Amino acid sequence: MARIAYVNGRYVPHASAQVHIDDRGYQFADSVYEVCEIVDGMMIDRTGHLDRLDRSLGELAMGWPLDRSALARVMIEVARRNRVRDGLVYVQVSRGVAPRDHPFPPAATRPAIVITARRVDPAAVARKAAAGVAVITVPDNRWERVDIKTTGLLPNVLAKQQALDSGAAEAWLVDADGMVTEGASTNAWIVTGQGTLVTRPARSGILRGITRATVLRAATDLGLEVEERPFSVGEAHGAREAFMTSATSRVMPVVAIDGRPVANGHPGQTAMALRAAYLDAAEKTPLGRTR
Ligand code: PDD
Repeated sequence: MARIAYVNGRYVPHASAQVHIDDRGYQFADSVYEVCEIVDGMMIDRTGHLDRLDRSLGELAMGWPLDRSALARVMIEVARRNRVRDGLVYVQVSRGVAPRDHPFPPAATRPAIVITARRVDPAAVARKAAAGVAVITVPDNRWERVDIKTTGLLPNVLAKQQALDSGAAEAWLVDADGMVTEGASTNAWIVTGQGTLVTRPARSGILRGITRATVLRAATDLGLEVEERPFSVGEAHGAREAFMTSATSRVMPVVAIDGRPVANGHPGQTAMALRAAYLDAAEKTPLGRTR
């Protein structure tokens, strides 16, 4: 089945979908994005992702490419047209197409939008979660506005590749004080010896993950103690459990950090309980029949 993408108002074959060479997303990473998970024919936390898209656009003084409710419907339609029952929807909005020049283009320049969808094999992800993944720690050398979900991800790309090259699945980024900020494309969590969940506050230094927010609600539902505070690499090395969260990995146990096993080197009970409780705490929007 041919994949379909939505590009600036048209549904087009994914294989031949194109944006202009003067698109500011391409020229300057002057663009923002969202990734939304689809589980068993339901879009997860679409409202949260659209709220964050609204915030990212606002922080960069960028307009909506089409109104919010229409964009929400197109996300569903792209998933349906690609017959995605389990997978991801990707939304990217750029400041539009204009001759290359650093200042914002004329106000009449229309933001450009691309929406794509792809399938993910849920069994493969479940197997990965059952085994857990390894992470490495690397310096966080990103700009300060990592709260805005821009496509300017080069430090994240380099950190992720370094992780893969060393046999790990993710890089945890570490600030100048030796505290973990977040992963290259995930939020970072540990569980202390006392069983308290710890994750960095969303005030600064991290992206305010939508999965993170849902996992915080799931943790409350499970009656877990939670502390939103920075944690150090040393504390992570000695933690009872570690895990990461994102729309692409949901709750993914971390079983090794910098080559050292976390506790006994197996996925922790708390991480697995949160993974199981996660969907109950999430908003689920049915796609309807995928055609
Ligand atoms: N990444 N931190 C960073 C730097 C991220 O890029 C992401 C998401 C997260 C988790 O956010 P959420 O729970 O809303 O997915 C945290 C997406 C999935 C990506 O870039 O593919």
